[in-house]
This record gives sequence, C-alpha cells and structure tokens, in this order.
Amino acid sequence: MSIPALLIVTSQVQSYPERFPPMNSPTHSLRRNAILWFGSLVVASLIAPSVFGAGATIRFAGDSDVGEGGRWTRAVAEQWAEKTGNKLEYISRPNDASATLQLFQQYWAAKSPDVDVFMVDVIWQGIAAPHSVDLKKYFKDDEIKAYFPRIIENNTVKGKLVSIPWFTDAGLLYYRTDLLEKYGYKEPPKTWEELAEMAKKIQDGERQAGKPDFQGFVFEGKASESVTCNAIEWIYSYGGGVIVEPDKKVTINNPHAIKALETAKSWVGTIAPPGVTTYGEEEARNVWQAGNAAFMRNWPYAYSLGQDPKSVISGKFDVTVLPKGGPDGKNAACLGGWQLMVSAYSKAPDAAADLVHYLTSEELQKKHAVDISLLPTLPALYSDADVLAKNPFYKNLLDVLKNAVARPSTVTGADYNQLSTAFFQNVNKVLTGGASAQEAVSQVERVAKRIVR
Ligand code: GLC
Repeated sequence: MSIPALLIVTSQVQSYPERFPPMNSPTHSLRRNAILWFGSLVVASLIAPSVFGAGATIRFAGDSDVGEGGRWTRAVAEQWAEKTGNKLEYISRPNDASATLQLFQQYWAAKSPDVDVFMVDVIWQGIAAPHSVDLKKYFKDDEIKAYFPRIIENNTVKGKLVSIPWFTDAGLLYYRTDLLEKYGYKEPPKTWEELAEMAKKIQDGERQAGKPDFQGFVFEGKASESVTCNAIEWIYSYGGGVIVEPDKKVTINNPHAIKALETAKSWVGTIAPPGVTTYGEEEARNVWQAGNAAFMRNWPYAYSLGQDPKSVISGKFDVTVLPKGGPDGKNAACLGGWQLMVSAYSKAPDAAADLVHYLTSEELQKKHAVDISLLPTLPALYSDADVLAKNPFYKNLLDVLKNAVARPSTVTGADYNQLSTAFFQNVNKVLTGGASAQEAVSQVERVAKRIVR
C-alpha cells in the first residue's frame, strides 16, 4: 500500500462535509453514511490487503519429490504466501509425469476449483489449454519477451498463453570422469556404439574389482513419458525423426528408428541392469548417485544432487551432450521442462497469477538454478556469474537447448498423450523382449495415423 494513495482517500472522506452543504434529511444522511462506509472500506482495504485484496488460499500443485524440486518449491511458495498475506496449500503429485497428467486430468474434467496453480509439462499445452486462464492478462508484453521465445510459442495455444515457462530441461549424458581416466579414456563417448564399448569395459573392470552391482549405463526405460523422452533421443540421433513431423507426416516406421530401438534393446542386461525397463528418473539417479554406474542419461536436476559435498560422486563426474547414432548420426537432447498455469476454475485467479509471477521472476529462477541446478527459462541467466559458478556445464547449454528435440506435442495437441502412451508402451515392450522393433514401430504408426488423420 502506498502512503500517498492512503492520504488521498482519507482526505477525500474528511473533506466531504465542507464540499457539500450540510445534509439533514434522512436520504442525505443515508447517502452520507454510505459514502463514509464505502470510503472507510477503501481505506481499510488499502491499509490491510490481507483482509480484502489478499487473504486468498492458493492451492498449488507444484514439483514432486524428484530430487529436491518439491521441497524447494514448497518453501519458496510459502515465502510468497507470507509476503503477500495469502495462504498456501502445497499439493504433492506423483514423481512420474504420466501419472501426474492422469491426476490433473481428473481435476480438469471435474472443473474443480481445488487447485489454483498447476505445474504443467511442456508437452501438455494442448491438453491443458481449455482449463487455463490466458496469462497475457497478467504478464506484460515486455515480460513475456524475456522468456525463451520457443517455449512461449509452445505454450501459446490458439492465441492463448496457457502457461509461463518456469524451468526448462534437456536430456544429458552424465559420465564418471575418474573412471574414464582409470580405464584410459580421454573423453566421453561420441556415439552410442562407443558408449556401449566403454560402459562394458568399465563395468567388467569394476565388477572384477569387487563391485558386483556396478552398471555401465543407466537410463529411464519405464513405460511412461520417461522412456518416451529417452527413445525420442535414440531415434532422432540415428536420423529416424520424431514419430510425427511438424507437417503431420507420420515417420516412425523407418529403418533408422528400428536400428535405434534395437540398439537400446541390446543394452538391457548387458551394460544396463534388466530392471532398467522399470526405471524412471529417480531410479536411474539412485544407482548413479550411489557410485554404481559409469554413465547415466538424465535431466539437469541430477547435477546439483550429485555434486553435493555429501554425495560419493561429488567432483567425480561431468555432463555432456548425448551421443550420436553412429558416426553419421546427430546429437539429440529431448526438450523437457515445466510451466506454471492458473486454472480456469480457480476462485482466486489474481492471487494465483501473482504466485506465478513471483516464481517465474528472474530472482527466483536464479535461485532455482543456483540451489538445485534447474535450467532457467530466461536466457539472460545463462551468463550470470553466480549461476555459472554453481553450474559450469550451463556454458554449453544455450546451444543444446537451441537444438533440443521437441516431442510431437504441438502437432498432436490434445491427443499427444494418446500418441505418447502408444509409443512408450511399445518401446518398453521392445526393451523387455515382448515385441520386435519392427512390430513396435508398426503399432505406433497405426495409432499416429489415426490421430493426425
Ligand atoms: C522431465 C521433463 C519433462 C518430461 C519428464 C518425463 O521432467 O522436464 O518434460 O516429460 O521428465 O519423465
């Protein structure tokens, strides 16, 4: 509340008798009382926003307990509530992205006002759009321009700004620098073939040296959005496209995609544990962070956790781009990331949008990056000295992000999850030996063609 505004309102109320002749009639005094009452209401609301403007209860379905994400988000959201005189209720969600979508869709189908702010995946914009407030109402053009334009475009559905980019993500290769050196490797692998060879040598050596559980490579093979991201990377890196191209052409049934899936299948039970077919992000990270893997495919959140002074691998690893599919292949990082959306059914959209503003601000995004290595959606922060000091690997990330491979969620819109489900179930079948790569891509092709028809 600014002092001058309070003074203006107060002085107007006080000067009332002077500006008007004395009023003795009942109508006059009624009117006069009403004006005084209204005036004092305005004054009171300006003095104590927590009583009128604020005082809302915001229910926030934010990050899960993947790493420190949930605890961190809850703490900063509670600080916002304290600062603004609102109340915050933090709603936990499952770690798994696909399970989270199922849960959110129940709220949306019921038009439930029970959640005000949702943290939504970069691939759900078409699904979430009908249930969101247009955030252009709350964010100025200049503010919107500060975020990565590609993500803003992704989050804009039929002109509606469904959500504000909060943190972005890209699939990365984590590798143990100490073990590469021990086994005579000067640099991380450039191709998946090299990775398999190095992983095998290190795994054999470490197992012989008394670590029977040591794994060459861990990744996310679980039948969920987790393996969708991994498999998009394998397939794209071999030149096999992104299932459905932006022009709606269904390309999944091709020899490069088949080669990529066969290659991934060959890792299971050789350089990766058979259980990798049930691994999400945290399962892979747990093996890695216990010091039991030479390589890991994961998102940036695993960086700060691994470098924590208490971690046994602290100072013993680095991250780089994921390998190419053979010497003629491409580096591919799946584009991930999370946004904040205000529910169209919220009873307190103004306060909800204020929380979104707060969390997506430069100050909080910087803290997010410094504290738990989550990638900002404001390009300016990639040259921030504090951010770089804590996350030296960020210096190459603008490039990785520029070339990151998007899942086909814009072209499939509200049907994306149907496509991804067919894809992740079939990919998982290949990994577990339940289907051939050719059978899998044919199945996915059938579903994809039905969706884009
Ligand atoms: C990460 C990504 C998200 C992706 C999910 C899959 O959280 O940011 O985009 O869908 O992983 O598990």
